[in-house]
Amino acid sequence: MSEIVLRNVCKEYNKGNMAVKNFNLDIQDKEFIIFVGPSGCGKSTTLRMIAGLEDISNGELYIDGELVNYVEPQGRDLAMVFQNYALYPHMTVYENMAFSLKIRKIPKSEIKKRVHEVAKILEIEQLLDRRSKDLSGGQKQRVAIGSAIMRQPKAFLMDEPLSNLDAKLRAQMRIELAKLHERLETTIIYVTHDQTEAMTLGSRIVVMLDGEIQQAAAPEILYNNPINKFVAGFIGSPAMNFVRMNVISDTSEIMLEKEGFRISTKNRMKEVLISDNCVGHEVDLGIRPENIYTEVGKESAIDVDLTDAIEVEVVARELVGAEVILYANWCGVQLCARVEQENTSREGDRVNWYLDCNCIKLFDVKSEQNLMYGE
Ligand SMILES: Nc1ncnc2c1ncn2[C@@H]1O[C@H](COP(=O)(O)OP(=O)(O)OP(=O)(O)O)[C@@H](O)[C@H]1O
Ligand SMILES: [Mg+2]
Repeated sequence: MSEIVLRNVCKEYNKGNMAVKNFNLDIQDKEFIIFVGPSGCGKSTTLRMIAGLEDISNGELYIDGELVNYVEPQGRDLAMVFQNYALYPHMTVYENMAFSLKIRKIPKSEIKKRVHEVAKILEIEQLLDRRSKDLSGGQKQRVAIGSAIMRQPKAFLMDEPLSNLDAKLRAQMRIELAKLHERLETTIIYVTHDQTEAMTLGSRIVVMLDGEIQQAAAPEILYNNPINKFVAGFIGSPAMNFVRMNVISDTSEIMLEKEGFRISTKNRMKEVLISDNCVGHEVDLGIRPENIYTEVGKESAIDVDLTDAIEVEVVARELVGAEVILYANWCGVQLCARVEQENTSREGDRVNWYLDCNCIKLFDVKSEQNLMYGE
């Protein structure tokens, strides 16, 4: 059992400079929680406060119902894995992994059994006699994770544990971490700014900005129902496109307009524009690259509802595996579309694109809130 609860947790390193502000989160037993956000937003600070490596300036931290603000790190029974894995370079892999149990005076035979068990899970049995300084980055990473799971702590706290690995190894370790979580059935709190890691590993993602939680939700909820423009733009790669549009009323219709191009609105979008008094003002339209089409009649989903054509000028083409990412200019705005490999558009081409009305999001220009949040 390990429930971790943060209540109005704040961190003030220097007077008047809040690195973490009123952080509220209930982490359930066995959750895989991810903290994401831009550099400096307070991810590591929050993790370090949970670990006890950093004082909490204000608020309460509970582990399994017990207030632990003043409990030493050793007393919290949590295991940390850092970006720069803390291995003892001259010890062998076996000695590194055995270390935390040895200082707890666990019998040798027991330690041996456990080292082999864990080494098997992480596929590092063949490395047990090697000195850790002679390992590759990926091997060191596995040993660090192995050392952390030797004892069965209440939770694992991991701060960008894969950031030193190359892309292929990262992908491989990501899969191993997911398997490990299933196997260990332990709470994991994991910091990253790699959103693929966040989207694939997390049962819940906490998106942070400037020390504050913007939204904490399951990956698909963040993706489909972001609370504001920041979350919408941060989650998803390539990022969501944003275009500022005028909201106009023409006879009984409410339309989004830009330089003569119009989208007539209906249903909830229309209702929201009216109830939020947007008519006569501007809104930011958001559309993901996969919801832009380059041809009419080729929509794969049945509930696609395309706008009229916008004429764009293609400025770049990137082949990414099975698909193509196109960047184009439309009335001074750069748009990005994700299309099939067969698409032949090249730099300099003037082509028609279409937006799927059913996937358009609208954001308030000032507050940046998602006007259609929670539907
Ligand atoms: N020991 C410290 N003393 C003063 N300020 C600090 C200290 N540690 C961190 N900060 C500041 O607190 C803020 C949050 O830092 P933190 O390390 O938590 O960010 P992060 O989200 O982990 O960023 P990154 O993705 O770059 O690791 C930053 O503005 C940082 O400069
Ligand atoms: Mg950090």
